[in-house]
Amino acid sequence: MNEISFKVNGKSETVNVHPFSRLLDVLRNDLQLTGTKEGCGEGECGACSVFIDGVLTNSCLIPIAQVQNCEVETIEGVAEGEKIHKVQRAFIDMGGAQCGICTPGMIMATLNILRDQPHPNDDAIREGLAGNFCRCTGYTKIIDAVKKSIEEREDESISS
Ligand code: FES
Ligand code: FES
Repeated sequence: MNEISFKVNGKSETVNVHPFSRLLDVLRNDLQLTGTKEGCGEGECGACSVFIDGVLTNSCLIPIAQVQNCEVETIEGVAEGEKIHKVQRAFIDMGGAQCGICTPGMIMATLNILRDQPHPNDDAIREGLAGNFCRCTGYTKIIDAVKKSIEEREDESISS
């Protein structure tokens, strides 16, 4: 067991775990941040997406030792207290929040698109969501939600 210290959503955390424990498991089991989901567990589906030092990452592939002194951002850090983020609102309004397993990862991927690209077109949206799988109803409503998020950004920045 090792002590690993890092920040999660701006809060300093120290856990005493095996250094090869997956970040996904530490978030969910040790820190009770269960918004980050497990889908495939193999780096394929994006359900476990978090930001590590600003980089969108599949937390199921990351040994906890790798995030020592890093800043991790999870879906719990996206809303401001009781006030949900505009991207979350867009997913609700457009029916993009469907099964609950893929949605947190989809929202993190959408934030990544918004942070990286000033004016993403349809191809850029699809590419930005390429690492996130929806296995149930398809991507139409999810893409509509991303587009709504992009439109809403025209007047004010939602990428910070
Ligand atoms: S659970 Fe991590 S990529 Fe699927
Ligand atoms: S909406 Fe989550 S898998 Fe399709």
